[in-house]
Amino acid sequence: MGEMGRAYDGSYAEYVLLPNAQVYPVTTTLAWAQLAAIPETFYTAYGIYQSLRLHAGERVLIRAVTSGVGVALLKLLKASGLALTVTGTTRSQRKDAALQALGIDAIVHTPDPNHLPKGVGEFDKVADLIGPSAVRDSLAHLAEFGIVSATGQLGGVWTLDDFDPITAIPNNRYLTGFYSGDVDTKKVQALFDFIATHHVNVTPQKVFSLAQTRAAHAYLATSEGLGKVVVVV
Ligand SMILES: NC(=O)c1ccc[n+]([C@@H]2O[C@H](COP(=O)([O-])OP(=O)(O)OC[C@H]3O[C@@H](n4cnc5c(N)ncnc54)[C@H](OP(=O)(O)O)[C@@H]3O)[C@@H](O)[C@H]2O)c1
Repeated sequence: MGEMGRAYDGSYAEYVLLPNAQVYPVTTTLAWAQLAAIPETFYTAYGIYQSLRLHAGERVLIRAVTSGVGVALLKLLKASGLALTVTGTTRSQRKDAALQALGIDAIVHTPDPNHLPKGVGEFDKVADLIGPSAVRDSLAHLAEFGIVSATGQLGGVWTLDDFDPITAIPNNRYLTGFYSGDVDTKKVQALFDFIATHHVNVTPQKVFSLAQTRAAHAYLATSEGLGKVVVVV
């Protein structure tokens, strides 16, 4: 969080130096490997969750559901008790079983992640982690009064060019986003409380030791790579 790894380098170490403003006390009984999965990834997923203003029984699409944020959001949605129908997109054919084990309702394979295949239908809410390269397509698959949260940039495009909101956003549809840099103790603790209350499984997909950091990256780069990976020191 706080642009670590973007504004300044340094990610894997036994000791790190952080600005005081980046340190938040939390109350939790989670083990370190679970705790480490929460800042940034679950915080972002929870931000999307809140911005989608969910109602019971809605149809939710997560674009790039196999990403760390995508899997975290899937877990939050499934633990919410709102009986949501969750569909997720992936370019890979090899992650279906793992996604099904997490409770996903439907998987859409997208060789071109910027365009949903014909016939997928419409959704009440869309969490778009592909981002600006796919946002227009997400809006086109939204039911009336639906919401798109454009919160990732996995498509490699960071901004919407030539975007005319009057015509690009269909009538009675809404576009929002979430920025994980907007954080404080109260907001972080609200997430930990949600996780405890709803018994959200925050166990990372895989845990590596610091010496295995290379293997952790190799796993993420494979076509089986899924969800959050934690390196424990
Ligand atoms: N707004 C914020 O504050 C905020 C905070 C955190 C993260 N983010 C953003 O959220 C996104 C997800 O982050 P993450 O750390 O969870 O990602 P991640 O775990 O690294 O995502 C990896 C997955 O993304 C998919 N992917 C990779 N390249 C792709 C491409 N070119 N087109 C489509 N899919 C692609 C792959 O899924 P398949 O192989 O299964 O298709 C891959 O398994 C990132 O864009 C990140 O920058 C934003």
